[in-house]
Amino acid sequence: MINYLGTPKIETDRLILRRLEPTDAQSMFDHWLSDERVTDNLIKGAHKTVSETFEWVDGIVREYSSKEFCDWGIEIKTTGELIGEIELYNFDIPTENCEVGYSLGCRWWHQGYGTEALRVVVEFGFRYMNIHKISAAHNIDNAASGRIMSKVGMTQEGMIRHKIRNAKNQYKDCAVYGILQEDYLKNTVSTQTYILNLE
Ligand SMILES: CC(C)(COP(=O)(O)OP(=O)(O)OC[C@H]1O[C@@H](n2cnc3c(N)ncnc32)[C@H](O)[C@@H]1OP(=O)(O)O)[C@@H](O)C(=O)NCCC(=O)NCCS
Repeated sequence: MINYLGTPKIETDRLILRRLEPTDAQSMFDHWLSDERVTDNLIKGAHKTVSETFEWVDGIVREYSSKEFCDWGIEIKTTGELIGEIELYNFDIPTENCEVGYSLGCRWWHQGYGTEALRVVVEFGFRYMNIHKISAAHNIDNAASGRIMSKVGMTQEGMIRHKIRNAKNQYKDCAVYGILQEDYLKNTVSTQTYILNLE
């Protein structure tokens, strides 16, 4: 059974994964949600105004009352900058599978932060929440996303043509990745390089 734990604070070497707050709206807007270079890879388009982001974060904050909601803001420990977001979602009761999604502001790309955040969330999903399988998909023209999936042990299972249609009305072929809990636990030693603050 999935052991839902909500969105606890998680610490890695360089990052703090924590709940988003209404006061984060401006940073979320400035750092990634208003930036088409980030949102071009997602289904939803870029936010046009910060009030859109306020509404968005408000919805997220309300969901935190549910143990079945896992959506973290990604913050750099040393600077306190909020640089992105990562979530486990689409929990499927019959299979106990779910998906993972993430976004980082461009200023912080190519510094290993995406891998660091994804790695600890996969660890959390398998070792703490008892998820059976974690999946994700990326546009085939977004190779960096596939690369970080591979780096945390996910493998490509196929390619789905025109899986998504983005905000610019473009269809995108997507590579689908997944990892099973049994394979993860067999192949990965818990590094204990993170601290979980379970409430
Ligand atoms: C995908 C994303 C989270 C990656 O974050 P990041 O912090 O830059 O990732 P990392 O620095 O940990 O790793 C990126 C890896 O991709 C590789 N990479 C980057 N651009 C690449 C490209 N065009 N082709 C191939 N590999 C690429 C890097 O070399 C690195 O691999 P390496 O460590 O083996 O060298 C970030 O680009 C992002 O938020 N993109 C926009 C939103 C998005 O695409 N979300 C995912 C939707 S599926």
